[in-house]
Amino acid sequence: MATEKENSLRSGNRDTPIEISRQEFQEIGHQLIDSIANFIETIKDKPVTSAESPEQLLSILGDKSLPENGTSASELLTKASDLLFNHSLLNGHPKFFGYITSSAAPLGALADLLAAAVNPNVGANILSPAATEIEKQTIKWLAEFIGIPTSWGGILVSGGNMANFTAFLAARNAKISDDFKEDGISTTSGKLVLYCSAKTHTWIEKAAVLFGHGNKSIRWIETDAGQKMDIGALEHAINQDLKKGYKPFMIVGTAGDVSTGAVDNLHAIGAVCKANDLWFHIDGAYGIPAAGLPELKELFAGVDEADSIALDPHKWLYNPLEVGCTLVKNPRHLTDTYSSHPEYYNFGTGEDNLTQNYYEYGLQNSRGFRALKVWLTFQQVGRHGYTKMIAEDIELSKLLFELANNHKELEAITQSLSITTFRYVPSDCAREAEGEKAYLNSLNEELLNSLQRGGELFLSNAVVNERYCLRACIVNFRTSKKDIEEVIEIVTREGAKVHQRLR
Ligand SMILES: Cc1ncc(COP(=O)(O)O)c(C=O)c1O
Repeated sequence: MATEKENSLRSGNRDTPIEISRQEFQEIGHQLIDSIANFIETIKDKPVTSAESPEQLLSILGDKSLPENGTSASELLTKASDLLFNHSLLNGHPKFFGYITSSAAPLGALADLLAAAVNPNVGANILSPAATEIEKQTIKWLAEFIGIPTSWGGILVSGGNMANFTAFLAARNAKISDDFKEDGISTTSGKLVLYCSAKTHTWIEKAAVLFGHGNKSIRWIETDAGQKMDIGALEHAINQDLKKGYKPFMIVGTAGDVSTGAVDNLHAIGAVCKANDLWFHIDGAYGIPAAGLPELKELFAGVDEADSIALDPHKWLYNPLEVGCTLVKNPRHLTDTYSSHPEYYNFGTGEDNLTQNYYEYGLQNSRGFRALKVWLTFQQVGRHGYTKMIAEDIELSKLLFELANNHKELEAITQSLSITTFRYVPSDCAREAEGEKAYLNSLNEELLNSLQRGGELFLSNAVVNERYCLRACIVNFRTSKKDIEEVIEIVTREGAKVHQRLR
């Protein structure tokens, strides 16, 4: 006689601990959506962060070992929601201005749920026919938005580091000898070197180390007073390297540097690349969406001269983490770098030349459907909605700079795109006095730590011309002018307390 277990396996109604009935899914799904809606509605009334220590959080989780048996999904989701809503740092809060993480489009959360429910593997067209076409269209729209031809191609990746890595490897493959793929990097003639501004994000160091070039292959080019790469110094460095037998292969321009939002002179870098037959990559992970604003066309002139661009929809296009994008002028450079055809893949490229297998365009093999949130949010908001929100973020950043500039105890330092740097300078300190320099740096560092623990707002830091600054990056559609005015009030109030404590 068949046991109950055998019957269940045979019947097509397999009894597993992981399946959820339609009714249960509806019930717990509705509950979850209700509590997320409530969370979003009340986010502005919560502290930006509960700033709990790892010990405090561990004690909330409880030091349990792996559960042997299961618990109801409903109970788990209720507990997880409470945990996350009440013990997280909320980057969707209107006063979150740290690093470069945006408030996330609520539609993005629903899109991720839908994407996970269908769960296409967007590594191969045959496994994700609709999702692949949606990703292709999303990439075209990203190109269109920033004003480059839609003939560019690309791939969605997890974020800025990966977008830059993906381009780095394509650049190397395009610019060094054909036999490199077989013989490896150590056999290339002349040590490969690349150029970037001294303000370039740390991804470049990871890339140089991980891809076998070493940190010494990076030529950090000094920046001018506006924090932009000094083009004269760039040309000089290339000439020196060529004389010494090095092999330059790429220049990285930055469109919105992580500390101050400075945009390099992209057109001038493009010209240097052309003159020296170098790959021109732009790290626009943060700033390049601002190229979509007609009034900023001049600032971003030269974008279309690049060979590749990194752009993060999870930064200034307000998509939930994770989604970055590598755009490449000639998409063949991606397939030349990443494509392989093992016998166990029956993934033809099709006679139509349209069938695209994304595993051939980047580092990942199996890939999730991160395009859906970007695609849906583009349609929800439209080009007009995006340019409006980005322009408003810039306006708020300028307002912060102006308010800091007009306040007797604040020093406004820089403002570019939507990043403002400033610092607290108590009335009894002379800002330029040599003897106060170190004190003002440690005062502002201590103030930042205190603000980050306080939960009223969240700023990060930048060091500009050896001055330790508070830094606000506004990629936040929830921020209002009132929030910015309150930043001034909070920083000066807390600054006075820290000053009193330190002096
Ligand atoms: C200019 C720039 N490039 C790259 C990155 C890395 O992006 P991600 O953190 O998404 O990997 C950042 C992050 O802030 C950035 O500002």
